Amino acid sequence: MSVEGGSAPLSVQDLTIGLRRPGGRSVAIVEDVSFDVDPGQRLGIVGESGSGKSLTLRAVAGLLPRGVEVLSGRVEFGGRDLLTMPAKDRRALMGPEIAMIFQEPMTALNPVMRVGDQIAEGPRRHLGLSAKEARELAVSMMARTGIPDPARRAKAYPHELSGGLRQRIMIAMAVSCGPRLLLCDEPTTALDVTVQLQVLKLLEKLCDDTGASLVFVTHDLAVVNQTCSELAVMYAGHIVEAGGVKDTFRQPRHPYTRALLESAPDFDHPERELIPIPGFAPNVADRPSGCPFAPRCGYVRDHCTEAVPPLEEVIPGRLAACFESDRLVEVLA
Ligand SMILES: Nc1ncnc2c1ncn2[C@@H]1O[C@H](COP(=O)(O)OP(=O)(O)OP(=O)(O)O)[C@@H](O)[C@H]1O
Ligand SMILES: [Mg+2]
Repeated sequence: MSVEGGSAPLSVQDLTIGLRRPGGRSVAIVEDVSFDVDPGQRLGIVGESGSGKSLTLRAVAGLLPRGVEVLSGRVEFGGRDLLTMPAKDRRALMGPEIAMIFQEPMTALNPVMRVGDQIAEGPRRHLGLSAKEARELAVSMMARTGIPDPARRAKAYPHELSGGLRQRIMIAMAVSCGPRLLLCDEPTTALDVTVQLQVLKLLEKLCDDTGASLVFVTHDLAVVNQTCSELAVMYAGHIVEAGGVKDTFRQPRHPYTRALLESAPDFDHPERELIPIPGFAPNVADRPSGCPFAPRCGYVRDHCTEAVPPLEEVIPGRLAACFESDRLVEVLA
């Protein structure tokens, strides 16, 4: 991940998302978010509930909920700004070029349509395949996602399948046209641990095979560690730290990242004591002045409450929004 533009399939610059209030006024709930995802790169976005992960991803996909809107910024895909292109052009990119996978497959699946037909719909429309070719592709995509007996299962309706199978159907649907960018919002959270691991491996393999870039939103640090190479940590609607996953987890340079790591179970060190993060994340529409993490931060000093620390390079390849970042030099076990 880099913060400058370039050949990135996805470049998000200074994205600010607001909630429309009665009277027409908007309150920013995601502010000045910038990141690039290079070809084939896998970016994980983590942060506590309500930090703005889903809204950021939905803004990229053009799927913001009613009442929520992009207030400013750019979202470039292959050099074209998704936010200003005609809606028709943007819709045409969704599916063949950009695909999104949600936590709950039922939100994306049509309950009264056979799953094979649902997977076949995209390739028919976007790749110009005949009905028969598209059906065959659907079955082969189902086989690739590890669904046993795919020809029979293609005739099933969503409610006839388990949660794990439905999630695989949604993945098959998302990747059926070979998108260059895959957006995943907690795609494995609702699955049990064994199925979760299978689905993650599958997503990794699909990205490897097609060279697709991945943006993966989750609150599970272990999942990011396994699946992604790059990391962005969100807190109260801002990116507060960004860099390579391994380096950042080894030596976080923002107190919030450090606190997140210390509060998460570590399967390599199960004896390690978990330290909960004190207090609560602020309501993003009502942030404190200064650094939004200051009220919960063990490194806080007076100046932290006076100004918002900018997201800056603190060591090569690492960005952190913290005035006290230099004090966080300890390497975690
Ligand atoms: N449709 C909506 N209407 C009003 N506020 C919303 C809406 N969707 C999200 N928000 C608010 O925007 C903020 C960010 O929400 P978002 O869903 O992006 O968080 P998140 O990081 O994905 O959290 P989670 O981990 O719980 O999924 C939250 O404070 C939330 O209450
Ligand atoms: Mg979310």
